[in-house]
Amino acid sequence: MGKGSKDKRDLYYRKAKEEGWRARSAFKLLQLDEQFNLFEGVRNVVDLCAAPGSWSQVLSQKLNCIDSSSSSKIVAVDLQPMSPIPGVECIQADITHPKTLERILGIFNGQLADFICSDGAPDVTGLHDIDEYIQAQLILSALQLTTCILKPGGTFVAKIFRGRDIDLLYSQLGNLFEKVICAKPRSSRSTSLESFIVCINYKPQKDWKPKLTLNQSTEEFFKDANLGRAKLSESLENNLPFEERVVAPFIACGDLSSYDSDATYSIEEGKQTTSLDPVQMPTAPPYKKALEMKRKGILLRQ
Ligand SMILES: C[S@@+](CC[C@H](N)C(=O)[O-])C[C@H]1O[C@@H](n2cnc3c(N)ncnc32)[C@H](O)[C@@H]1O
Repeated sequence: MGKGSKDKRDLYYRKAKEEGWRARSAFKLLQLDEQFNLFEGVRNVVDLCAAPGSWSQVLSQKLNCIDSSSSSKIVAVDLQPMSPIPGVECIQADITHPKTLERILGIFNGQLADFICSDGAPDVTGLHDIDEYIQAQLILSALQLTTCILKPGGTFVAKIFRGRDIDLLYSQLGNLFEKVICAKPRSSRSTSLESFIVCINYKPQKDWKPKLTLNQSTEEFFKDANLGRAKLSESLENNLPFEERVVAPFIACGDLSSYDSDATYSIEEGKQTTSLDPVQMPTAPPYKKALEMKRKGILLRQ
């Protein structure tokens, strides 16, 4: 396969490099914004699982953070280090650890966030059930952190995989937000189970004070949040009819004239036909050590 063939097979991959986005995921957030007008009146933003940073780039542009007089604050969090982005404070941290919440609140000087997004994906093990479980836990961690830092009325957007028990998550979210919509941007491949939940108007129960502590289970965390989990797990166990389980409205978003992420396109006439370099080289790629060892000729010997 030639070096440029991915540029042809995946138009969003190519377009991201042409337009200066660090990853093709930028188009997913842009298309979600086209549909839901996500950033009106938004000042404080948290981008969870943000590396290499294309969503943070979109946020920085949309909130005009390139202008140093902007009053918006964006905090980007990832396990991986990130190269700087104008107006974005990047922290290398684990979103599942309570200390990360303290660091974010410190940057916001105790203020709350208007918008929180999470595009998190754990490293896959190849064992399907384990992968699905870890992904579900990552979404719950993002949601726990969100409940501690999102303003009432705020918005939460997160990547999900529409697996078997997704209606349980919809039901829990429906108790925390006024509207929960499942959206699939055109730039997300239709062959993938990936979608995004767009949760609008955060409205937690008035007397609930979420508190994140180490080694606490999700059940303990949400115990007083009135999520109706018991009722729903009962319905799952007793195989109650489908209508009694929650189904979020599904919206395919992105202009129909925009590119189809599953189609193959030829590079436009007059455009450079060779492959383009990545916008941002990885800061700490996992293969770095192997390359160094290979260069020193010690990889084969070990
Ligand atoms: C698909 S990438 C995010 C792409 C990003 N939205 C962008 O536009 O560039 C998923 C990220 O989730 C991060 N991640 C996975 N588990 C995490 C955790 N527990 N805490 C923080 N980041 C995590 C990974 O390091 C990875 O960079």
